Amino acid sequence: MPYNRAHHRFAIFTAGATFCLLIAGALVTSNDAGLSVPDWPTSFGSLYKIPHMIGGVRFEHTHRMIAEFVGVLTVVLAIWTWRVDKRRWIKALAVGALGTVVAQGVLGGLTVLFYLPPLISSAHAALAQTFFCIAVAIAVFTGRRWVEEVPEVELDSRRPSLITLTLLSILVLYVQLILGAMFRHHGMSWWPHVVNAPVAALVLTWTAVRALAVYARIEAVRRPAILLLGLLITQLCLGFVAFLTRVAWGRDAVQPELPMVISTVAHVAVGALLLATAVVLAIQVWRHVPVAFAERVPEGGRRVVAA
Ligand code: HEM
Ligand code: HEM
Repeated sequence: MPYNRAHHRFAIFTAGATFCLLIAGALVTSNDAGLSVPDWPTSFGSLYKIPHMIGGVRFEHTHRMIAEFVGVLTVVLAIWTWRVDKRRWIKALAVGALGTVVAQGVLGGLTVLFYLPPLISSAHAALAQTFFCIAVAIAVFTGRRWVEEVPEVELDSRRPSLITLTLLSILVLYVQLILGAMFRHHGMSWWPHVVNAPVAALVLTWTAVRALAVYARIEAVRRPAILLLGLLITQLCLGFVAFLTRVAWGRDAVQPELPMVISTVAHVAVGALLLATAVVLAIQVWRHVPVAFAERVPEGGRRVVAA
């Protein structure tokens, strides 16, 4: 299949716009602006009029407008992918992205209509990052390297395998995300999130160190592994600052204060980048480092073959 530059660039743009949308959403939560626009799918009774952008309405309505824009981008991306891409699985992924963005919009609306219940708000936070990961994955799969290059492959005979470690990293990051979201949306105490942080840090470090120690030669694996480590360190520092501004100092604040808003929004944003990087690493490991498994051959010897 030929590489399609315009399609790939559009996929990158959609992923970039989604990242901005995540920041806009996090600003709504951090500024306690979730109910500033009380109705949905209308905003103050209208589907298209822009309300007076004052107080929390600035955050909530801007978030809705960017969400609509990303929704349109996703529709275009899905149609474009169906028209130009011959791979059936990527067509399915593009339709999956469309389904996810619709579900995400509905969750956003429901959380307003039910006055921000923790479960719905947390589901909205978790699905947001899932959608971001799908958009990033589509950008990777449509890239020149993915489409045109013959991948460099090395068999992995270690246990646990690197692909297992990357999948475990994604799992612990999801647990971390859900626990963080439940705390942020007042559905749970802060300590399960903070207690799970060292577990997540350990699994991610193990994954990145294994990738770098054994497969640093493969650029597609080396780059996300280095990024994963850098983002992890940043995220732990931001988590610490978010804890200070939100829990230690901000407990009795009468309204959201700037240091708290900045640190918590940055913590959400870097959390999303971390999850997306873990997904990209898993994708590249799956492509470049397939698992080797021992197969018994009739003479009683062992032969190592690729999965
Ligand atoms: C379609 C794509 C959308 C994405 C990717 C998205 C993403 C996000 C994100 C990342 C947050 C912050 C969560 C957090 O910081 O914990 C958020 C919050 C929020 N979003 Fe969305 N959103 C989308 C659509 C919508 C729509 C259509 C609405 C309609 C009302 C909406 C309403 C809200 C509200 C009210 C909050 C604050 C929730 C709270 O403080 O409890 N979102 N969104
Ligand atoms: C690998 C490490 C970590 C990851 C991936 C992570 C991720 C996250 C995410 C994604 C959220 C927001 C969830 C949402 O969208 O609603 C969050 C919230 C939070 N995290 Fe972390 N976190 C990590 C470590 C830490 C650490 C070490 C601390 C504290 C020492 C911490 C403190 C917090 C706090 C206080 C919040 C809530 C902020 C608020 O209420 O606005 N995090 N975390």
